[in-house]
Amino acid sequence: MTPILTAWAPGRVNLIGEHTDYSGGLVLPAAIQLGVTVTVDALSDTVALASSKLGPGEPFASDGGGAPVTGWARYGQAVAAELAELGRPAAGLTARIESTVPTGAGLSSSAALEVAIALALCAVAEFELEPLELALACQRAELRAVGKPCGILDQAACILGRPGVAILLDCATLEHREVHVPDEAALLVVDSGIGHEDDDGMAYAQRRQELEHALALVGATRSTEVSMEQLDGLDPLSARRLRHVVSENRRVLDFAAAIEERDLAEAGRLLLAGHASLRDDYEVSIPEIDLLVELTHDAGAYGARQLGGGFGGSVLALVDTARADEIAYDVVSRYRERTGRDGDSLTAHPSAGAAVRR
Ligand code: GLA
Repeated sequence: MTPILTAWAPGRVNLIGEHTDYSGGLVLPAAIQLGVTVTVDALSDTVALASSKLGPGEPFASDGGGAPVTGWARYGQAVAAELAELGRPAAGLTARIESTVPTGAGLSSSAALEVAIALALCAVAEFELEPLELALACQRAELRAVGKPCGILDQAACILGRPGVAILLDCATLEHREVHVPDEAALLVVDSGIGHEDDDGMAYAQRRQELEHALALVGATRSTEVSMEQLDGLDPLSARRLRHVVSENRRVLDFAAAIEERDLAEAGRLLLAGHASLRDDYEVSIPEIDLLVELTHDAGAYGARQLGGGFGGSVLALVDTARADEIAYDVVSRYRERTGRDGDSLTAHPSAGAAVRR
């Protein structure tokens, strides 16, 4: 059977700018070569999705209405509901889903799934949305599906990605520009083998609440308005949370400048400073991730840091392209020696964003 269309959406790495998106801060992600493909085989009254890894999902109404489905298909139902609210005509489909993004590694497998389904649903209904409007709908779908109050980082990266570049994005205005990643800079992702999913939901929401509280104390609506002096006199917890975000926004700009000047040593130093801030001020790292940051640095990386929401998942290390395989091998074997755990590694290539192919 010839498919009607396919929709592709990539995962992402975030070079720097972690836990800044939901306070209107700055981020610097890139779409990667791994992603989710939705292959639409037929039009239908309902939406029936089957995943090659997870099996058939519960079908749901094409406007996302009706009783909530359980299992992974709830992401699809939530996307359909958000699109219906934006006026998408209720057209259904039967589709197969294939994903090459590992789950729990901090590479945004769920955003890739949401965006690929959203593109397929829009295409079959001949409904057009501005790319960032679609990203925002998918961000809301994540909250609707699994209650995670995430920011716009993952979905925007998935939509805006282009080969060879990272996207410097202002999460309040959604203004963005491309930052070229030089060929000699490889983005090595080392997975701790500890999925972030178990406690991510609760702890993530708690961090967001703590940060919003701290922002309210200094009377700011977005983190880029806050200066370090305003932290004086805050309670210690609020001061730590806000200090991470204020310093991280600065690091995003400095990192973008460093990478554009091909100053990888400076970029690496900023990654290490970012990790220390995530570990000590934002408190989202775990000992195995701290160990991986140390091991990658010892093996010759310019720097590394916790990638994504934290509490497990992966580190992102900046390394010389010519040395990426050697460093990856070294780090994974030392990690095994030290923890008895099987880590895993991949080199992320800044790649094209989501698209529909007919
Ligand atoms: C997760 C969320 C993003 C972002 C990161 C932390 O990936 O989905 O919105 O907050 O954590 O930077």
